[in-house]
Amino acid sequence: MRTQIKNICCIGAGYVGGPTMAVIADKCPHIKVNVVDINLERIEAWNSDDLNKLPVFEPGLDEIIKRTRCKNLNFSCDIEEKIREAQMVFISVNTPTKIKGVGAGQASDLKYVEACARQVAKYAKGHTIVIEKSTLPVKTAEVIKTILEDYQMFSTNDNAKATFDVLSNPEFLAEGTAINDLENPDRVLIGGQNEFAINALSQIYSNWVPKNKILHTNIWSSELAKLTSNAFLAQRVSSINAIGALCEATGADVKEVARAIGTDSRIGSRFLDAGPGFGGSCFKKDILNLVYLSKHFGLVEVANFWEVVVSLNNWHQHRISRLVVKNLFGTVTGKKICILGFAFKANTNDTRESAAINICKDLLEEGAILFINDPKVVPEQISKDLLVNENKTLKSIESQNLFNYEGSWCSEDNLEIAASNADAIIVLTEWDEYSKIDWDLISKKMRKPAWVFDARSVIDEKKVLAADLNLWKVGNGSI
Ligand code: NAD
Ligand code: UGA
Repeated sequence: MRTQIKNICCIGAGYVGGPTMAVIADKCPHIKVNVVDINLERIEAWNSDDLNKLPVFEPGLDEIIKRTRCKNLNFSCDIEEKIREAQMVFISVNTPTKIKGVGAGQASDLKYVEACARQVAKYAKGHTIVIEKSTLPVKTAEVIKTILEDYQMFSTNDNAKATFDVLSNPEFLAEGTAINDLENPDRVLIGGQNEFAINALSQIYSNWVPKNKILHTNIWSSELAKLTSNAFLAQRVSSINAIGALCEATGADVKEVARAIGTDSRIGSRFLDAGPGFGGSCFKKDILNLVYLSKHFGLVEVANFWEVVVSLNNWHQHRISRLVVKNLFGTVTGKKICILGFAFKANTNDTRESAAINICKDLLEEGAILFINDPKVVPEQISKDLLVNENKTLKSIESQNLFNYEGSWCSEDNLEIAASNADAIIVLTEWDEYSKIDWDLISKKMRKPAWVFDARSVIDEKKVLAADLNLWKVGNGSI
C-alpha cells in the first residue's frame, strides 16, 4: 500500500527539529510541516521577523526559513491540534542523561519522549506513523508502542480510534553543517518492520535523497546504529587527543601523525583533528548511554571500553587548564587571560558540553580573570554555563588594576581590548577569524612574557613566534 503524506508534525523545535523540518518543507512543497514545542520563547524566536533571532544558528538555515515559513512550514505551541492533523509525527525532543535515580549519570532520561508518546496517543486521529528522530536507547520503540497501544485499549475517550506504526529514523546531522548534512546526507536510516510506514517515510526522503542512500534495517539495529555512530566518532577524537599528548611529550607533531595515518584508506583522514576535547550535546551522553546499556546486558568489558573514551576526554580538558597554569609560573591568580571561542566548535552558537566550560571553570577556580570572545555565543549563555555571572565592570577597569577581580569574567568583542595586558590567549574554538589575527599588533598589547595556547591548532605558528610570544599548540611537541 502506498500513501501520500501531506501533513507532518514534529514535536520539538530544537537544533534537530527546526533545521530537519525546514529542509523537509523546502524539499517537499506538497507537505504541510508543523513544528511544535512547549517552549513558547523558542517558538516565538522561530517566528521572529528578524532572521538573526532564530533560536538556532546554522549557515543557510535563514534562507530556507525565509522560503518556507508561513507557506508550508509553521512553528507553534498548539501541540494538540497539530498532532490531530498529522499523518506522521516525528518525536525530536531532548534525551539528556539522567541526573538522579536508577542509571543516573549514564542512562538517557526518557521523560520527554514518554510525554510525547502520551500526547500522540491522546490526540492522534486515524492512522499515524510515529517516528523516533531523537537519539534513543535500544528498545525505546517498544516503550513508545506500548504507550500508544495501551491508550487505545484502555481509553474511554472517543478520540481513541487511532492506529499507529513506530519507526526509528535517527538524525546524523552535525551542528554548523546541518543544512548541507540534511540536503546531502551520507545516508538516511529507517528502522522498522511495517512496509507501509517504511515506504511512506522513504517517499518523503526520496524527494531529494538518492534511493541507494536510504537504508532500511530492523528497528533495534537503527536505534543502536545511531549510538554506535556517535561512539565511533567520539572515539576517534579521544584517540587523536591521546596521541597528541604523546606527541607533545616526544617531540612529534600530531598533525603530521594524523596525515600519515589518515592516508591509509582503512583509517581515513576525517575526524583526526586534535583539539581541546570533544563537546556538543550528544557524544558524551550517547556514549554514556551505550555504557549503561552494555552494563544492563551484563557486558562489563564492553561498558569499560567505551567509558574510557569519555574519561580520556575529561582528563584532556583538565590537562589543558593545568598546563596553562604551569606555564604561567604556576599561578594564574589575578592574571588576565583572553579566551578565544566558547562554542563547542565553529559555526554554531551551541555551548553544550563545550570544552571551554571545563577549561574556563578551572581557570576561574584558580583565580584568573577571563575576557571571553566568541562571535556567536551570547554572554547570558556563558553565565549559565560557568555558573558565574558576567562582571561587566571589568570592561571599564584599567587592565593593570584588574588583579583585584580574581575569579571573574566578562565578554569582549574587541580582540585588542580582550588581549590588552593579558598574560595569555587561549584558542578554544576554531572560528575562522582567529586564524587571521594580526599577532604583531596583539603582542604589543599583552603583558610579557606572554603566551598563546592554541588548543585548535588554527593559528599561524610562525607569526606568533615572530611576534615574541610563547606558543603551545595542541599535540605539537616540536615547537
Ligand atoms: P533541543 O534541546 O535543542 O530541542 C528539544 C526541544 O524539545 C526543546 O525545545 C524542548 O522544549 C522540546 N520538548 C521537550 N519535551 C517536549 C514535549 N513534551 N512537547 C513539545 N516539545 C518538547 O534538542 P536537540 O539538540 O534538537 O536534540 C533532540 C534529539 O536529537 C536528542 O535526542 C539528540 O540526541 C538528537 N540529536 C541531536 C543532534 C544535534 O546536533 N543537536 C544531532 C543528531 C541527533
Ligand atoms: C555529532 C556527529 O558528528 C553527528 O553525526 C551527530 O548527528 C551529532 O553529533 C549528534 O548526534 O548530536 P556535532 O556534535 O554537531 O555532531 O559535532 P561534531 O562535528 O561531530 O563535533 C563534535 C565535537 O568533536 C566538537 O567539539 C568538535 O570540535 C570535536 N572534534 C571533531 C574534534 O575535536 N576533532 C575532530 O577531528 C572532529
